[in-house]
Amino acid sequence: RHCILVGAPVDSGKRRTGCLMGPDAYRTAGLAGALESLGHTVEDIGNVTPAPHAPDDGAGKLHEPNLTRAWTESLSEAAEAAMARGMPIFLGGDHALALGTVRGVANHAATQERPLFVLWLDAHSDYHSLESTDSGNLHGCPVRYFTKQAQFDTFPPVPNPVPPENVCMIGLRSVDTAEREAMEKVGIHRHDMRDIDENGIARPLSAFLEKVAAQNGMLHVSLDVDFLDPSVAPAVGTTVPGGATVREGHLVCEILHDSGLMTSMDLVELNPFLDERGRTAHLMVDLCASAMGRRVFDRPTRSYNT
Ligand code: ARG
Ligand code: MN
Ligand code: MN
Ligand code: MN
Repeated sequence: RHCILVGAPVDSGKRRTGCLMGPDAYRTAGLAGALESLGHTVEDIGNVTPAPHAPDDGAGKLHEPNLTRAWTESLSEAAEAAMARGMPIFLGGDHALALGTVRGVANHAATQERPLFVLWLDAHSDYHSLESTDSGNLHGCPVRYFTKQAQFDTFPPVPNPVPPENVCMIGLRSVDTAEREAMEKVGIHRHDMRDIDENGIARPLSAFLEKVAAQNGMLHVSLDVDFLDPSVAPAVGTTVPGGATVREGHLVCEILHDSGLMTSMDLVELNPFLDERGRTAHLMVDLCASAMGRRVFDRPTRSYNT
């Protein structure tokens, strides 16, 4: 594969800062070398910058809407362009970056006349509208935006929304009431930690991948650091106890690789300011490597082509 590293130092999606250092932390942790050692070609296009925008005045409930909208515009363009040339890996940056990356990836999928599917690996559902968010933090809103299940005021319109049934969330353990009520009305596949404890993580993932393969879909994977348990991934502002283990994380990524279905990936919410000697950055790099083919032993791969 031709991997295109796209730095997305978005830090406007919440109040605690530090995610702007994420892209450089992934570079320092050796992401490019890890991918090259797996036989991929790697092109680091550096960091995207936000489109021109009016300064945020601090009025209103939303935190930095103008800057976040500007990121949405520029990242959407960058995503669509990178998709035409290879497999983009977006180096976040907080989860507000997915407002742009998924919008752009969806535009590309539409040019290929293929449906887009999104795997959301996160403790949170990030399904708020601009009206329902209590925090005003836009990193809590991308899924509602790219599924077009609410109006997003002056944000760029979404010409190719991802159907809710094409979204699968795994790792949920912090969902606000308004998000839950809105999600109950649509067909998002959602798997909370109880589901994982009872059924394992491979089963719901494989069921979703079967669906992607059956429809010849493209698959965008959005990996939030807080999907993982804070004891192994402390470098995130929104830790929630009871997260995925290192082994569950790798298993998900190895199955993704075996499926051959993933066409783009976000690595989000890493806050290097909160890390311990780079351990979270290194874990995220290792997970990305697993998703791109690192394995201990070869084994017969499972085919998802039905
Ligand atoms: N639901 C909460 C909120 O809206 C938390 C969102 C956390 N999102 C994230 N991308 N870490 O503020
Ligand atoms: Mn800010
Ligand atoms: Mn998130
Ligand atoms: Mn989260």
